[in-house]
Amino acid sequence: MTTDGAGSPTDRAQRAPLDPEAVLAALSLEEQARLLDGSDFWHTQPLDEHGVPAVMVTDGPHGLRKQPTDGDHLGLGGSVPATCFPPAAGLASSWDVDLLQRVGTALGEECRAEGVAVLLGPGVNMKRTPLCGRNFEYFSEDPVLAGDLAAALVRGVQSQGVGTSLKHFAANNQETHRMSVSAEVDERTLREVYLTAFERVVRTAQPWTVMCSYNRINGVYASQDPWLLTRVLRNEWGFEGLVVSDWGAVDDRPLGVAAGLDLEMPSSSGASTAKVLAAVREGRLSEADVRTAARRVLQLVARAQPGLAEPRPYDAAAHHALAREAAQRSAVLLKNDPVGTSAGAAPLLPLDAAAAGVVAVVGEMARTPRYQGAGSSQVVPTQLDDALTALRDDLEGTGEVRFAAGYSLDDGEQDDDGALADEAVAAARGADVVLLFLGLPGSYESEGFDRTHLDLPASQLALLDAVLEVTERVVVVLSNGSAVRLHPWADRVPALLEGWLLGQAGGSAVADLLVGRVSPSGRLAETLPLRLEDTPAFGAGFPGEGGVVRYGEGVFIGYRWYDTRRAAVSFPFGHGLTYTTSAYDALSVEVTGSGADAGLRVALTVTNTGSRAAAEVVQVYVADPVAEVARPDSELKAFARVELEPGQSRAVSFELDARALSYWSPVQRRWVVEGGAFEVRVGASSRDVRLRETVQVTGEDLTPPVAVDAEISTWLDHPVAGPALRSVLERSGGGFAGMVDDPEHGAMFRAIPLVRMARFPGFPATEAELAQIAERANA
Ligand code: BGC
Repeated sequence: MTTDGAGSPTDRAQRAPLDPEAVLAALSLEEQARLLDGSDFWHTQPLDEHGVPAVMVTDGPHGLRKQPTDGDHLGLGGSVPATCFPPAAGLASSWDVDLLQRVGTALGEECRAEGVAVLLGPGVNMKRTPLCGRNFEYFSEDPVLAGDLAAALVRGVQSQGVGTSLKHFAANNQETHRMSVSAEVDERTLREVYLTAFERVVRTAQPWTVMCSYNRINGVYASQDPWLLTRVLRNEWGFEGLVVSDWGAVDDRPLGVAAGLDLEMPSSSGASTAKVLAAVREGRLSEADVRTAARRVLQLVARAQPGLAEPRPYDAAAHHALAREAAQRSAVLLKNDPVGTSAGAAPLLPLDAAAAGVVAVVGEMARTPRYQGAGSSQVVPTQLDDALTALRDDLEGTGEVRFAAGYSLDDGEQDDDGALADEAVAAARGADVVLLFLGLPGSYESEGFDRTHLDLPASQLALLDAVLEVTERVVVVLSNGSAVRLHPWADRVPALLEGWLLGQAGGSAVADLLVGRVSPSGRLAETLPLRLEDTPAFGAGFPGEGGVVRYGEGVFIGYRWYDTRRAAVSFPFGHGLTYTTSAYDALSVEVTGSGADAGLRVALTVTNTGSRAAAEVVQVYVADPVAEVARPDSELKAFARVELEPGQSRAVSFELDARALSYWSPVQRRWVVEGGAFEVRVGASSRDVRLRETVQVTGEDLTPPVAVDAEISTWLDHPVAGPALRSVLERSGGGFAGMVDDPEHGAMFRAIPLVRMARFPGFPATEAELAQIAERANA
């Protein structure tokens, strides 16, 4: 099937190419202000008399949700058929930047065919808690992984002359009170965890637009935060595009314009234009700010025009095949233990398609796949594969495929689905293998609300117990958009495939993996915790109270939390098995440069030591065991997915820049490289370190300036102020000098701000004298 590349005449913007500066020069202030508001749910404002067309922006992110008629942003109304690729939770598990770029290109082609100027995605918010209702739309708990994958997707979409919208900027990590909650986050945590993925995408892929989030950050709405939207995004990172509001995120429109929010969506039907004009009249908003925002809207329209003027059909069959490949790479084989006690014990997977015997496929989700999440990202797929049909195609003829639904897809809170469960047990009895499809029903996770627990439905857990009563030969295949609780039951199941949500071709892709047509190669982009109680934001940290959520765990989210605390988890970040084995060797780590120019050159060899082709995902973590700030046990800094034939070795190398060694200094309010020992760990998960090497890095001079109110220890550590202070203290005849060096009480004295000590009776220098010393020392 190919689409005809339709799109309304206005959408296609078939007009003379627009020169933003020339148009801007001809616009009145009122016309400029009108441009800052949408014209309906999905279109920018046209100015017909100036030849400015309306262009269409629409969801996103893992497929196109183009609504032909009236719009809504909650996924309620229908939309044109489009390829439903795996949502981000799936795609991220591929750790495959090349794949993400190809998926992006396909998404761009579909936008192009449908006359869409901007695809509203990707979303790179961090998975702070597995309970976030929208985690299926986000990539990871790690900003480097999320940032690099999202950047590849953006490059792919934009290669087709279609824009993207990087969202939701920023700290939108929960759905509870998402339109008002204030995320209270210290700057170091923002910079190192919550902003990094955005920064990587902006710096390396320049998305055409960034979408500000609904929430407040430290009390200020993201939609009107000049620090976020202008200072950080534009001045520091060099963002060149347009900032659009999330749908309904505007609080005070004039403040937003001044802060750098260019476009409000959807249309406020003129209300905001009036407010903007009034604010200019009253001197609360400058004409220059209005003009700047209008210019960016015109630039966006001009960027989109060539693509819109030339719609191109896309090949839906090829996109379905790509969706299948993406799904194959996104599923994660968590476990595949040998079954049986005899010497012939072997793992259940892959099934031998030529002699699989009796295969019992159990679970409604095998027949009715759960393949995407709910809300604004919900796509109407061009076709839909289910695992049951695909498995029958693969296995019937050489074996027998039995099916039993086992449970229904309602909320599943009752303990068992009676007759359905009985039927499933009957199908499982005597089968050579049971493929048990479990997962979260659609009602469990969605945009708009958060989950309250991590458990699978009670009816499914009861079914699992009942099946395990009759056979141990059970492979569980999961469908869920965010982590579910796996233990203790996972200990009793020999094989476990985490299928996340795999898009429209997920069913056939899962069959490909189960029968071994392809080896699994996905790796966890999020830790699977043992219990909700172990998760970093559990308790007072989520979902907050009184309109505020405090990120008290700081930079310690995901594996940064579990690994630093040495906490047991179900499966660690980065984990995933294949049908082969691998070896890592010949690690070399070379330090390049020093201080703010320091970097690391990491090289190693990876080998497929088994008998099947598979991809290895090589992960590079950096640990900084001694630092002035509390740092995580280790942090992912680079990764590469490497395809390997049996017996094949490949050299892999990485160039890490200073950022890979830096932390955000809360004192200096900038990234710093603190010198000392760093350990580079290379492995197959954050806990499966195969090679490690310690190197010495020469850091920056981080001597803090001294001031009279700095603690005495700061003075003593200073190369100039330290000796000067010591000679002053000696003047007291040794009394004060003796105090600070006293082996028992010295630490207490050294912790006193110098100026306070100077006010004590008998101190040998005045405050003014100390201030002079400080001035000389800092010069
Ligand atoms: C969502 C965005 C989405 C927008 C338009 C909002 O509710 O948060 O992610 O792009 O609606 O549908």
